[in-house]
Amino acid sequence: MTAKSRLTVNSVHISTALVGMLLVAACGLAQAGTILGSKHDFTGLNEKAGVVAMSRVAFADYGSPCVYCHLPPEKEGADTEEFGGIPGWNRYQPATGAYELYDSRTLDNKVRTPSPISLLCLSCHDGTMSVDMTVFQPDGWDSAADASLHVRLNGGNDLMNCGKCHNGYAAHSIEIKHIGSDLQNDHPISMTYAGLTARDPDYWPPDNADGFENGVKLYDNRVECATCHNVHNPDVNLLLRTGAERLCETCHIK
Ligand code: HEC
Ligand code: HEC
Ligand code: HEC
Ligand code: HEC
Ligand code: HEC
Repeated sequence: MTAKSRLTVNSVHISTALVGMLLVAACGLAQAGTILGSKHDFTGLNEKAGVVAMSRVAFADYGSPCVYCHLPPEKEGADTEEFGGIPGWNRYQPATGAYELYDSRTLDNKVRTPSPISLLCLSCHDGTMSVDMTVFQPDGWDSAADASLHVRLNGGNDLMNCGKCHNGYAAHSIEIKHIGSDLQNDHPISMTYAGLTARDPDYWPPDNADGFENGVKLYDNRVECATCHNVHNPDVNLLLRTGAERLCETCHIK
């Protein structure tokens, strides 16, 4: 790789960031970069969708959109692992043995189990556990009054699945968001980034310790779901860190 080609990629990164900023400014998005009102906001979903069937019926509405992933503030610092949770997150550990991870003859870095930050995503998106299955509930929440079905992000036609209604007829199909436990057709995750040492000619070295200037982020030098997606920023289509047309070439040289 030459210094010149490196420069070109950097300027692409910079111009994408600028365009992003301009777009945000132009649309005057007061809610830019917030989870509130996005697909990951499970509070007040009935009111948002104009139905009576979701919050409190299909799943518990904890009143805060954050606690479906993060510890409630009053439980900050608690050891979720002690309760079977994913370390650092307010969700139970999925059955990690069930995952079939991506593999190929050419893959440098093979992995057995997804890292905690990807298990966070899979704990809903694999469709095996209900979306409200958090380790802790906020203090103000009345568990005695809970009458919800605790349904799962699963497209299957089962009473316990969102797919019971979200089948493309009664409501938008949820199947495409249901990734399942077979990850062999998805981009590999939780492997150490192959471009770290700049020895693999197929991958760009990262711009800094966190990853790339366009926001594509490495976690402990690994590629995770949150490398490509930022659930906190619904302004980019499919919560991607950078538009799909630029995403792959952030890392892949050819
Ligand atoms: C769907 C899961 C999810 C929900 C819901 C969620 N977050 Fe996050 N949050 C994450 C992930 C994943 C990260 C790590 C992201 C990163 O490294 O950029 C994170 C990181 C953060 C951080 C640290 C930011 C940083 O730069 O390290 C803060 C603060 C935060 N979230 C606040 C909130 C608040 C407040 C809410 C509710 C309004 C919320 N989150 C809802 C998943 C979630
Ligand atoms: C608490 C459950 C839950 C967790 C945890 C969760 N998601 Fe989601 N996610 C959902 C639901 C529900 C939807 C919307 C499904 C629908 O309406 O079709 C969704 C939608 C998405 C979408 C599609 C957004 C769109 O605009 O269509 C992406 C991408 C996504 N999630 C990525 C992630 C990533 C990455 C993580 C981990 C950092 C994560 N999710 C964690 C429940 C969750
Ligand atoms: C009893 C039927 C039913 C169940 C069960 C159900 N939904 Fe819905 N949902 C609907 C209907 C009807 C709508 C409105 C039509 C649409 O958006 O397709 C809707 C809309 C939504 C929306 C869009 C809200 C908006 O901003 O307009 C999301 C996100 C959503 N549902 C997520 C879920 C998730 C996640 C589950 C499972 C945990 C679920 N729903 C379970 C019936 C249901
Ligand atoms: C290398 C980047 C990358 C990684 C890693 C990644 N994704 Fe994605 N994801 C994408 C892209 C690009 C799309 C949109 C195109 C597509 O559907 O393939 C997408 C689409 C999605 C969608 C929406 C599907 C749809 O079309 O509505 C969900 C949900 C999702 N990803 C969740 C995840 C989860 C959970 C993980 C970790 C297990 C993950 N992603 C890892 C790049 C990535
Ligand atoms: C954050 C950096 C990063 C981004 C962004 C990224 N990839 Fe990757 N990709 C990797 C790494 C690292 C590997 C695994 C390399 C290894 O260990 O051999 C990989 C592996 C792959 C493989 C499997 C190659 C094999 O040898 O089996 C395919 C296919 C792939 N990526 C396609 C894509 C596509 C398409 C996109 C854009 C949607 C994308 N990647 C975005 C880093 C990235």
